[in-house]
Amino acid sequence: MAQSNRDGFTSTFGALVATLGSAVGLGNIWKFPSLTGSNGGAGFLVVYLLATLLVGLPVMIAECMLGRSARADAVTSFERLAPKGQGGWKVIGWMGFAAALLIMAFYSEVAGWVYAYIFKAISGSIATTDPKVAGVAFGELVSNPWASLFWQWVVLGLTGFIIAFGVSKGIEAVTRRLMPVLFALLILLCIRSLTLSGAGQGLSFLFMPDFAKVTPAVILTALGLAFFKLSLGMGTMLTYGSYFRPEQNIPATAARVMLADLSVSLLAGIAIFPAVFAFGFEPAAGPSLVFMTIPAVFTSMPGGVIFMTAFFVLTAIASVGAILSLLEVPVAVLSERFHLPRKGAAIATIGLIGLLGVPAALSQGTMAEVKLFGLTAFDLFDFLSSNILLPLGGILICLFVGWVYGLAGPERQMAETGTPMNRLTIRTAFFLVRYVAPLAIAVVLLNGLKLF
Ligand code: PHE
Repeated sequence: MAQSNRDGFTSTFGALVATLGSAVGLGNIWKFPSLTGSNGGAGFLVVYLLATLLVGLPVMIAECMLGRSARADAVTSFERLAPKGQGGWKVIGWMGFAAALLIMAFYSEVAGWVYAYIFKAISGSIATTDPKVAGVAFGELVSNPWASLFWQWVVLGLTGFIIAFGVSKGIEAVTRRLMPVLFALLILLCIRSLTLSGAGQGLSFLFMPDFAKVTPAVILTALGLAFFKLSLGMGTMLTYGSYFRPEQNIPATAARVMLADLSVSLLAGIAIFPAVFAFGFEPAAGPSLVFMTIPAVFTSMPGGVIFMTAFFVLTAIASVGAILSLLEVPVAVLSERFHLPRKGAAIATIGLIGLLGVPAALSQGTMAEVKLFGLTAFDLFDFLSSNILLPLGGILICLFVGWVYGLAGPERQMAETGTPMNRLTIRTAFFLVRYVAPLAIAVVLLNGLKLF
């Protein structure tokens, strides 16, 4: 079934790095801290950890397996693997297509803020530990329509250009090497943040759970974050799995990616929350939290401007790996199903995102009052994708693997790299995917949306 002319990752290590590059991104450095801050801290973190282990990891294994079996884009994969007459499962792929565009519409904007902050860091204009000054600097950027659109287009132009080059030359080449440097800078930030006076309050906010704050809506947000973080429920991991080589050990790859991703998020949390309390920032500030506290931590240490600049450069680079994997879903569908040349598919995808991106970019300024269900376009796209489409996609993927595709396929795949440990892992993952994950997601989704 494999098509020999299909592009793919050139080595198992390259595939691991690209998969990690998809998972690690603004989700760790921007979304994880801001959601943890606005959802009460440690209680949210506990639910997020449970969701990652019991739902995220098994779904990730399932998605990669499906992709490697089908060797096709997210829509075609379900068509190929479903039994005759059940082609309807391909709706999962189309939902993923829609989710990719929605996520990109706001993700490209946040990435744009990061790019803009590189220059603000160099100029010294954000070197402050004063919450008021930091708030004004952030507000000026995001409420300015031209600056917002400009930076969003810089991001779209750059990543569109890279994605047009394909999997091995584009994605794999760019996402190698940079993770360790980001890691090192985060550790440096943590050390500085932890040695600020008053750091303890931030640590207890992050690690001492108050379960009274854990409402059904908070649980849904934590579950949505688990999907978003590991790039699940929308065909990204399936598409990347389709580029894996036969000898890639999928459970081991998934477990490594999950652990590394979690470490980056926790480091970001430890870098940010002590500083939030030490400098008197508001933990529930939302999307602006990182853009205010990170500069404050750097400002309070020697050589701050240099490290601050390096930090935003690396965050911008980390966002590229995630964006490429988001773009890859629609690009693969358009080029494989509709036989568009890869460059044409990239241009079409970027064009669609550019259109959807306008209201998201203007959400903090010109269009701040334009709301649907009480949410700006930016928040609405985020809510629709993370809290609805990804969990729903997750349930459908679990049902498909657990009840339609079955255990035989994954076990056959394991035979190629299989050790007894692997077989046990795959059976455990299968059990979680068949029973635990779909039920848990359904209950959380219905409760969180108050439909239950
Ligand atoms: N996981 C990425 C991040 O945390 C975002 C992402 C979501 C990427 C869904 C692909 C698919 O930044």
